[in-house]
Order: sequence, then structure tokens, then C-alpha cells
Amino acid sequence: MNNKLPNHVGLIMDGNGRYAQKLGKPRSYGHQKGAQNLKKLCKYIYKKKIKYLSIYAFSTENFNRPPEEVDYLMNLFVKMFTKELNFLKNEGVKVIFSGKKDNLNKDVLNAMKTIIKSTQNNQKAVLNICLNYGSQDEIVDMVKQICNKVVCNELSIKDINKEEVSKNLYHNLPPLDLVIRTSGEQRLSNFMLWQSAYAEFYFPECNFPEFDEQQLDKALEVYANRDRRFGLIKEVI
Ligand code: IPE
Ligand code: IPE
Ligand code: MG
Repeated sequence: MNNKLPNHVGLIMDGNGRYAQKLGKPRSYGHQKGAQNLKKLCKYIYKKKIKYLSIYAFSTENFNRPPEEVDYLMNLFVKMFTKELNFLKNEGVKVIFSGKKDNLNKDVLNAMKTIIKSTQNNQKAVLNICLNYGSQDEIVDMVKQICNKVVCNELSIKDINKEEVSKNLYHNLPPLDLVIRTSGEQRLSNFMLWQSAYAEFYFPECNFPEFDEQQLDKALEVYANRDRRFGLIKEVI
């Protein structure tokens, strides 16, 4: 196997609801299984020395789901950030969040603060959790921030470039190399549009709770065999 590893992996964890429905269980069961799976996958990903992982936990649009499901997910996030993901502290993983704070309740905000604080000095790897996140909102917020700097004479228009744009996103992260979306859907659903500019995409059919270490290895193998050209000419050997 070619062992070219991605530096930054994006994971759109989709299909929890369908996983549960297939088993005749409530959607919440799928979310619970998805959360357990995430914990397992994180361990594996960082063990493999992948440095950046961005996960799509909840989109701004997900607030339009029935309130019982939204409440269930919010409580699950509290449990994850205060307990289940605590091991990241000792693994050297720094946890950061991307998304809007409004609409998130006090318990979720406090849980986010807890995990940010306990992992803030970690330097081995990064877990970026996209929660109440929308990439178009992120871009709008970046434009506002840059305009503000221009108006305040802190930045001149001629100095606006790709680096400046990246610096004014929620976080200045390296580009995504590989984006995985489970459940067979082939769309981004407003996930990290700027950061995915040259990403490779992988769409396994299985639902997120079924996307295990073996499935991840398969994704990494497919990635390693892709030919990333970045506009250059394909080399014929
Ligand atoms: C992904 O699974 C989790 C979230 C969006 C929070 P879904 O809940 O979207 O599951 P499906 O797509 O309905 O099966
Ligand atoms: C995208 O999944 C958001 C997350 C995985 C958190 P959705 O299930 O909300 O996306 P759509 O509605 O199928 O595009
Ligand atoms: Mg879905």
C-alpha cells in the first residue's frame, strides 16, 4: 500500500438516522451509536498520526429538525465534551470549534469551554468540531471582518489575498486533503467550502455508525492512490 497520508481529513458523519431506522429503532439510537463510533475513530486517526481532523457534528440547518431530536443531540454533545472525549487531553489533541455560538444553550457552551480549556496547550494534533456550522456563514463573517479592517485602516485592499482570507475564517486551518461523507450522499451540505478547494472526496455507502477502522483504512488507501495534480500535467512514468 502506498502510505501517503492526508494531513487534514474532513468527516461528514451522515446516516445516523437511517442506521437506526433500518434496525427499527428511534433516530436517537443512531446518534448514540454514531457518537461511540466517533470516539473509536478519533483514537485510530490520531494513532495513525493524521494531524488535523475536522468533523461535521451539527449544521446551522440542523436546527430546523424536530425539537426533540435537537435536544437529544445537544445533550449528547454535552456528554461528549465533558466526558467521552476527555481522553484527547492525554493524547496531545487540541480541540477547537467552528460555528456560531448563538442558539446554543448554556450547557453546551460550558461543555465546549471545558474541553477547549483542558486541551488548549496540546500540540500533537487538532480536532476541529463544526457545531452550529455553515460554511457560507463562515465566509460571510470573514468578509465582514476583512471589511471592518479596511474601514478602520488596518488593512489595505491591495493586501487582501488568500492568506488574509484564511486568517479571517473561524480558524486558520491547513487545506483539507480528504473529505469523507458516509451514507452514500454525495454533497457537502455547507461543509468547509473554502478549505475543500483541492480536497479529494470519498463517499462510502455505509452509514456513519458502521464506518469503522477498516473502512477508514480503505478510504486512506483510496486517497493514497489518487493522483493530485493541482493544475499540473500528469506525469507519465
Ligand atoms: C448525521 O446523521 C448526524 C447529524 C446530522 C447531526 P443524520 O441524522 O443526518 O442521519 P440521516 O441522514 O437522517 O440518516
Ligand atoms: C450534514 O448532514 C450535517 C452533518 C452531518 C452534521 P445532513 O443530514 O444535515 O445533510 P443533508 O440535509 O442530507 O444535506
Ligand atoms: Mg443526514
